[in-house]
Amino acid sequence: MSLQPVIVYGAGGHAKVVIDILELAGHLRIIGLIDDDPTKAGNLFCGYKVLGDMKTLLEWHGDPVALVLAIGDNHARSRLAGRLTRFQFATAVHPTATVAQNVLIGEGTVVMAHAVINPGAVIGNHAIVNTGAIVDHDCLISDFVHLSPGVKLGGHVTIGSKAHVGIGASVINDVGIGAGSIIGAGAAVVEDIPDGVLAVGVPARVIKAIEEPHQ
Ligand SMILES: CC(C)(COP(=O)(O)OP(=O)(O)OC[C@H]1O[C@@H](n2cnc3c(N)ncnc32)[C@H](O)[C@@H]1OP(=O)(O)O)[C@@H](O)C(=O)NCCC(=O)NCCS
Repeated sequence: MSLQPVIVYGAGGHAKVVIDILELAGHLRIIGLIDDDPTKAGNLFCGYKVLGDMKTLLEWHGDPVALVLAIGDNHARSRLAGRLTRFQFATAVHPTATVAQNVLIGEGTVVMAHAVINPGAVIGNHAIVNTGAIVDHDCLISDFVHLSPGVKLGGHVTIGSKAHVGIGASVINDVGIGAGSIIGAGAAVVEDIPDGVLAVGVPARVIKAIEEPHQ
């Protein structure tokens, strides 16, 4: 079987985990990394060379290659994807993740170790289903969402684009979380959360609007 060549965008902590998954996936071959920090150019990271920055990719004339955006910040990932539309994006699923048969996972999405995605769930593009996250049946996870480690979503939960659900948070069934909202670590979400707000606590309460995109 010929291995699909892939370039990883990002050479930081999140990229370390993504690289491990890509290596374990077995059908991909990492040919190098891209990072916009000029001091990293030419360095080795996890054994792979940092080939350059965004400009290097935009001027890419080598063999066709797929990308994975290994950037944890949802807004940054979204901006990058908007500039790299001429590329295909690889999807990476850790071999210990449990993904039901009729689940849809979009391009560029990464599913980490021991995540569970149950039947009928739809995961959009460039999402992160982090280590040990549970996505129960019929959830709809939009593009550029980040479900942090240990997040638990009940059935039929809807998460809007670029929302970030913090580490260990739980969301009961049938609840919706709005686009761009952030749910604090350890929260228990028991009712709908609108777009663009920060909600924390048990039960989760909105404490402020999000003025500037951040994780
Ligand atoms: C919620 C969060 C994003 C902080 O947002 P912030 O805009 O910086 O907010 P602040 O730190 O100023 O906190 C605002 C208030 O919320 C409280 N708060 C912050 N995080 C909280 C949490 N997870 N649960 C309960 N209360 C929390 C703060 O104590 C503060 O309360 P106060 O006003 O009474 O002092 C952050 O605490 C958090 O939970 N991030 C999740 C990170 C994560 O899961 N990362 C995983 C990466 S893989």
